[in-house]
Amino acid sequence: MAGFKVTCRAFFMLSALHFHPFFPSTEGRSLVSHGTRFLLRRTHRVPLSIVGISTKASAATAKDVDPAKIAANLVALIGSEEEARSVDPDLAEELLSCLRFLVPRVVSRRGFESRDVKISYGIEETRQGFESPKWMAAVQDESVNNLIWWPPTSVMELARSAVEWGGDHSVIERALNSIHYPVPDIEHCIEHKCQLTRTTFGRRFVNEELNLYMAFLFETISSLAPSAGFNVSLNRYDLFHGHLFLATNTGRLGILFHAKEYPAYNKETFPFHLGYCQTGSFVAYDCSMNLRNILWLAPLPDCSNRKCSSQWLAPGALVVLDAQPGGIIFEDLVGQWVQDVRTIYEDDFGDVIFDVNYLNVANSASENKIFLC
Ligand SMILES: *[C@@H]1O[C@H](CO)[C@@H](O)[C@H](O)[C@H]1NC(C)=O
Repeated sequence: MAGFKVTCRAFFMLSALHFHPFFPSTEGRSLVSHGTRFLLRRTHRVPLSIVGISTKASAATAKDVDPAKIAANLVALIGSEEEARSVDPDLAEELLSCLRFLVPRVVSRRGFESRDVKISYGIEETRQGFESPKWMAAVQDESVNNLIWWPPTSVMELARSAVEWGGDHSVIERALNSIHYPVPDIEHCIEHKCQLTRTTFGRRFVNEELNLYMAFLFETISSLAPSAGFNVSLNRYDLFHGHLFLATNTGRLGILFHAKEYPAYNKETFPFHLGYCQTGSFVAYDCSMNLRNILWLAPLPDCSNRKCSSQWLAPGALVVLDAQPGGIIFEDLVGQWVQDVRTIYEDDFGDVIFDVNYLNVANSASENKIFLC
């Protein structure tokens, strides 16, 4: 934990230097129009007109680093042996020093046989919730690790098709059913005029196991975060969404999760208005913001021939991208205008298909909390 303390100190120094009394004075208007999430989407970036009042030294000097290039190297590093070797060794070392693996990294070797994984951690256990003793036991006996390395068959098949079809969106879209599930009101959203999701309805995968696996990822991040030195709660101010993408060049399936989405307004530490969805937030703006970007990558199939073989080149991975100032993630991957909130843009990783939302409705089965918007 010693390293973590250093991170925190650096964080607060930066905050003290960069916050400016001007910034929040948007006359009670949020930085964005109501219902959008400025922390996240490239399309919802802070309008250039307000950038002028940002006091960032670095904001004035355009970066010549292409974040998409860094992201591609990062994905390669967690990819096949061949891909990992293609990354410049210095860059690889810098990147690795900022990665906090929630499940141990497996350095892949060519030729994993596809296995028909029958998970002991099945639907029944998920229904009992992730706080259950059974789930905790699963963490201890490493079946959670196995579920990340080698997900259930439905996930493996989707991951394989995505690569086989060269990152074609329709592979993912065809896996959805045609039902439009109305987005529920969670934690007084309606009362606060907050629209969390991009649309007022969500879709789901036809295959129940895929929905369940999405929920499993959220719940696993929340459970394993303390091992990386922070806490993540599954509520609408903290972790409720990720962005599903097909990685540039390979079509590898992945999700970039954003935790700590709406930190509470605080005159001293976080003097920013983020719109209606921030109202009522109790998420503290502190050094754990450095850890809010979490990357899941599905296993990488061997598609070196036109048709994919049954072999796999890399297992799945779940990793926190540590954006502490000074590190390469912060310097080269965090969006230039959103450094205070440490946002990494999902479209730097690839083609974004949709957002995966986990809306924590009480007494609802995990897979029913998933809304793909
Ligand atoms: C996480 O939450 C636990 C329980 O509330 C608390 O004891 C711990 O200090 C928290 N950890 C961090 C890093 O905030």
